[in-house]
Amino acid sequence: MRIGKKLILSYALIATIVLLIAILSLGAFVKSFYINSLTHQLESQANTVRVAMNELEGWGLKDLNSPDARALINKLGSSMQSRITLIRKDGAVLADTNANPETMDNHASRPEVKAALAGKVGRSERFSANTRQVMLYVAVPYKTYDNQIKGVIRVAIPVSEINKSLNQIVGVVLIIVILTTIVMVIASGVLANPIVKPIRRMMKMVEGMANDDLEQRLPVNQNDEIGELSKLLNNLAVNMRDKIDELKSEKAKVELILNSMAEGILLVNKSGEVVLTNPAIERIFKVKANDIIGRPVIHSIRSYDLDRAVHESLSLEREVVDEIELQSPFRSLRLRVMPVVNSLGEKQALAVIRDITRQKQVERLRKDFIVNVSHELKTPLTGLKLLSDTLLRSIDTDPKSSKIFIKRLDKELSTLINMVRELIDLSKLESPQQSIEKEPVDLGEVVSEVGSSFTQLASGRGLSLSVNIPESIPTILGDRDQLLTLTRNLVDNAIRYTPAGGKIDIKLEENNNHINLIVKDNGIGIAKREIPRIFERFYRVDKARGRETGGTGLGLSIVKHIAENHRATISVDSALGMGSTFTISFPIADTPP
Ligand SMILES: Nc1ncnc2c1ncn2[C@@H]1O[C@H](COP(=O)(O)OP(=O)(O)OP(=O)(O)O)[C@@H](O)[C@H]1O
Ligand SMILES: [Mg+2]
Repeated sequence: MRIGKKLILSYALIATIVLLIAILSLGAFVKSFYINSLTHQLESQANTVRVAMNELEGWGLKDLNSPDARALINKLGSSMQSRITLIRKDGAVLADTNANPETMDNHASRPEVKAALAGKVGRSERFSANTRQVMLYVAVPYKTYDNQIKGVIRVAIPVSEINKSLNQIVGVVLIIVILTTIVMVIASGVLANPIVKPIRRMMKMVEGMANDDLEQRLPVNQNDEIGELSKLLNNLAVNMRDKIDELKSEKAKVELILNSMAEGILLVNKSGEVVLTNPAIERIFKVKANDIIGRPVIHSIRSYDLDRAVHESLSLEREVVDEIELQSPFRSLRLRVMPVVNSLGEKQALAVIRDITRQKQVERLRKDFIVNVSHELKTPLTGLKLLSDTLLRSIDTDPKSSKIFIKRLDKELSTLINMVRELIDLSKLESPQQSIEKEPVDLGEVVSEVGSSFTQLASGRGLSLSVNIPESIPTILGDRDQLLTLTRNLVDNAIRYTPAGGKIDIKLEENNNHINLIVKDNGIGIAKREIPRIFERFYRVDKARGRETGGTGLGLSIVKHIAENHRATISVDSALGMGSTFTISFPIADTPP
């Protein structure tokens, strides 16, 4: 039940009880007072009857049992509106205003009659067989002039008359009680308001607080316990808001750090279930945070090695560092799992996981590269050593063949120099510090410059070389020197891998916001399965032939790097014996990349 209702009800209850007690005691008092005064009234009526009778006696009445006496009694009775009974000393009823005295039995044993015969005023309240109702009787002795008791004069009225009057009084009082109760209920409602209203407001505020609304405040305008409580609640709300804000900002910081970390973070409780993770974990293991939180590592991430490292760290309470590999897709990971204790004192394991796949790849490439470079250098250097030894021996004895050796020596040296130059180019292109200054470049100019520089070489090898450039072509953003190198390498390959009588076409085409550089030959072509590999460093399809043609297998890796620097794509269309077409597609300068 609401506190307001309770207050109103208790006020009303108290009011009703107090009023009822008042009514009951007042009622009893009023009744006895009323009956007393009635008794006195009846007594005085009886005395009046007695005086009248005495007068009648004075006028010569000898016998009480006479018609005159009866007539007097009847007259007085009707004027007094009371029942009057005249009783002889022996109890015989001589006259009665309300009944026939002949049919009435002897009244000597009636208590009020008895008392009157003894010289006192008799009083009684009882059921009357003659009038068939409860009556209040008052009887006085009737004495003659010589003071002899000759009989009894009795006056009576029905009690129902008294009750009628009393009921009227009770009715009025009851109406007063009901009205007072109503007034009390209304008044108690008004009185309860200053208590109930602030309590309701407090309830609303606390409800709001439970639902994260910490901005509500209570008015503090009462200088009592309610005012104090309002103040305390306001302080509580302010403190809670400050604490929550603090927590929120701490959480946001932690989240920011976790989200921006390249390392995967995994917090595991002592039962082996994941309690915290970050986006890097989702990226590395290709899982969703929702699917791993609350589940054991082995069931959600499915890495036996990670699970083992976590459990080892949890059980031995020491740091575990390991490198593990994931299959499909292949990944190399470095793990560091540390035992930690959370704010509740529970032991947990914190795993920091770094994806070192790329690092490992680079390491491997670097190793391969060194092996390849040493190997590639060894061959021409051994050739040079052989030639110089032979030359030393033959220079004096056979000057003619010495000249041939020197020519071969010179060729080997050119190859070597070419290779070293390409290596330098490549390392420059690969170094991360190398950022190219891009400027608008006219690819038409680049292509025609390369074309004319190769014209002589091509015709020397019996090849026809055609260059096709549209009249006006948009510029691209790039590095002119790098673009020259790229074109040169492609044309160089076309010439190198096309036998005499072949045909080489160099073309520029504008297509769909791009400019395509197309170098097409009808030379030896490349087997389909070799195509993906020709852009690797030192990769040559035919090693022996490559050496013969002076190639080191670096040209296309340089092309690939330059294309990447210019956001260009490379496509190769070739088949063995059918010639090759290399297409490099550059985005046009004014289109955003
Ligand atoms: N137009 C082409 N026709 C047929 N094969 C080609 C063509 N271009 C490249 N190749 C093949 O791809 C290989 C790699 O070419 P790349 O230009 O990288 O090296 P290279 O020409 O052998 O030496 P260099 O470093 O001097 O250019 C070549 O050895 C050759 O086997
Ligand atoms: Mg080449």
